Amino acid sequence: MERRTFIRITSLGSLSIGFLSSNSFLLSSCHKMGMNETMSGSYIDIIEGDFTNSFINPATITNNGALEAQKTNCQIFPGKTSKVYSYKANAILGPIIVMNSGEQAIINVQNNLDEPTNIHWHGLVIPSNMDGHPMNIISAGSSYTYNFQVNQRASLYWYHPHPDGATASQVFRGLAGGIVVRDAEENALNLPSGTLEIPLIIQDKRIFPDYSIDYSPQMNEIMTGYLGQYALVNGKYAPNLNVETTTYRFRVLNGSNARVYNLALSTNESFTIIGSDGGLLSSPETTNSILLGPGERLDLLIDFSNQIVGTELFLVSKTFSNAGIQGAQEFKIVKFTVDQQSTLAYTIPGSLSVISSIPESISIKTRKFEIGNMSMGMGSGGMGGHTINGVSFDATVINETVQSGTTEIWEFDNSMGQELHPMHIHGIQFQVLNRVGGRNTLIASEKGWKDTVMVLPNEKVRVIMTFGSNLGVFMLHCHNLEHEDDGMMLQFEII
Ligand code: C2O
Ligand code: CU
Ligand code: CU
Repeated sequence: MERRTFIRITSLGSLSIGFLSSNSFLLSSCHKMGMNETMSGSYIDIIEGDFTNSFINPATITNNGALEAQKTNCQIFPGKTSKVYSYKANAILGPIIVMNSGEQAIINVQNNLDEPTNIHWHGLVIPSNMDGHPMNIISAGSSYTYNFQVNQRASLYWYHPHPDGATASQVFRGLAGGIVVRDAEENALNLPSGTLEIPLIIQDKRIFPDYSIDYSPQMNEIMTGYLGQYALVNGKYAPNLNVETTTYRFRVLNGSNARVYNLALSTNESFTIIGSDGGLLSSPETTNSILLGPGERLDLLIDFSNQIVGTELFLVSKTFSNAGIQGAQEFKIVKFTVDQQSTLAYTIPGSLSVISSIPESISIKTRKFEIGNMSMGMGSGGMGGHTINGVSFDATVINETVQSGTTEIWEFDNSMGQELHPMHIHGIQFQVLNRVGGRNTLIASEKGWKDTVMVLPNEKVRVIMTFGSNLGVFMLHCHNLEHEDDGMMLQFEII
C-alpha cells in the first residue's frame, strides 16, 4: 500500500510535511486513478486561537436587496488582510437577508467574479427556475434578479452559489449568507431578540501563509471533503463575544464544505434546542451536545444567568465517533465572556409550535438511494467517484419523477459506506422517520422540519415528504461540497 504524503499547516506561515497516521481514513476502491491505487484522506486539525478577535454580526438587508459576487479583501485575523470571495466588499460572507414569511424576495445578483456563478436559496420552497439549478448560471460580468415569494415557516435558511462543478470552491472562498425568515407564530413567542439574538455562521477555512483562502483539494480531499485548519464564526477567526447574564438565542449555520461540529459548552452545561433547518420544534429539547453537519441549522438558547461576571466559557466541538476521519479532536469555536449582570429574567416557553407528523401510511412510494458505494469510476463524471445509486450528476438526465401533492419516503442507505454524507433535498422540507444502524436513533434537532440530514457510515435514514406545487426540476445531493461537485447529486422533477 502506498503512503501518500500530505501537508499539514501547523500554524500561520509554517508548513510541515507529514505522513498519514494510523487514524487516517483509508478507502480501497477502484476509481479513475487506477485499480490499485489506494485513496486516503487526512484529517486537518483545527488550530485554536487566543480568542481576542472581536465578534461581528453580519450586516443585514431586506427582501428587496442586492448582492455583488466579487473578489475582495477582508480581515479574518486581526490586523491581517485576506483575499476572499464575498457578496459584499471588505467582508467575507454576504449580508443576512431578513424578511417576513409571505413577502416577495427581489434580490439582484451582480456577478463580478471572472467565472460563472448563481445562487441557491437553501431550504426555501420556491419555483424551480429561481432555485439556482447548477446549469442555470449568471455569467461573469452579468447580473440576474431573483424574484420569488417566501411562504414558509420562520427559520434560518441560507444562500450560496451552486454552479456546476464550482460550488465547493466558491463557498469555501467566502460566498454564502444567512436568510432569516420571520412569521407571526414565532413573533408571538417573544424569544430573545435584538442584541440577544445572534447569528453564528460556522465555517472552517484553510489559509495560505499570506492569509488568503486556500482552496486546492487533492484527490484524497475529494474523498473526505476539504477541511480547513481555522474555525471561523461570521467570518472571524477565534472571536470573543461579550454576553450578559441572561438567555441568548443563537441562530447557528454550519456553512462548512465538509466539517461536522459536535456543539457543546466548555462547561458541559446544557443548552436548549428550539429549532432546526425548517423552523421551531414542537417543544424545547435540552441537551449537552448536538451534531451539526454541513448545510444544517440550529436555533439554540443558551442561558448565562447562572454565570458569574468575569467568567469565560466557550462554544466547542466535542469529539464524536463513527464519522469517517472526523470527530477525534475537541476544539474551541467561540469564546463567551460574561461581562455584565443583567436583570432580564427569561423563561423558555414550554411549547413552541405544532408539528404534525406525516403518517407513513399516506406514502405512495419508497425510493431507495444507495450512498455508500464508490462507483467503479470510468463512467462517472466526477474524479473520486461519489455517486447516488451508482450514478453521478448528469444535467441531461432526470433521475426521479414525482407527483405534486403526493407523499413519499426516501431512504438514504449508507450501510456499506465509510464516509459521512449530509443528504440535502432542494425545494422541500421533510421529516426524518428513523435511522437504523450507526447511531440507531434520531437526534433532538431531527424532531422538526429538515432539508438536510446526516447519514453517518453504517446508517440507513428514512425521510418523508409531500411534494409541493412548484413544478420542475430540483436537486438531491450530498452537502459535503466536494462530494457534490464530484457528482454526488441527482435531479428529480415534480410534475
Ligand atoms: Cu445548500 Cu444544493 O445546496
Ligand atoms: Cu438547497
Ligand atoms: Cu457525501
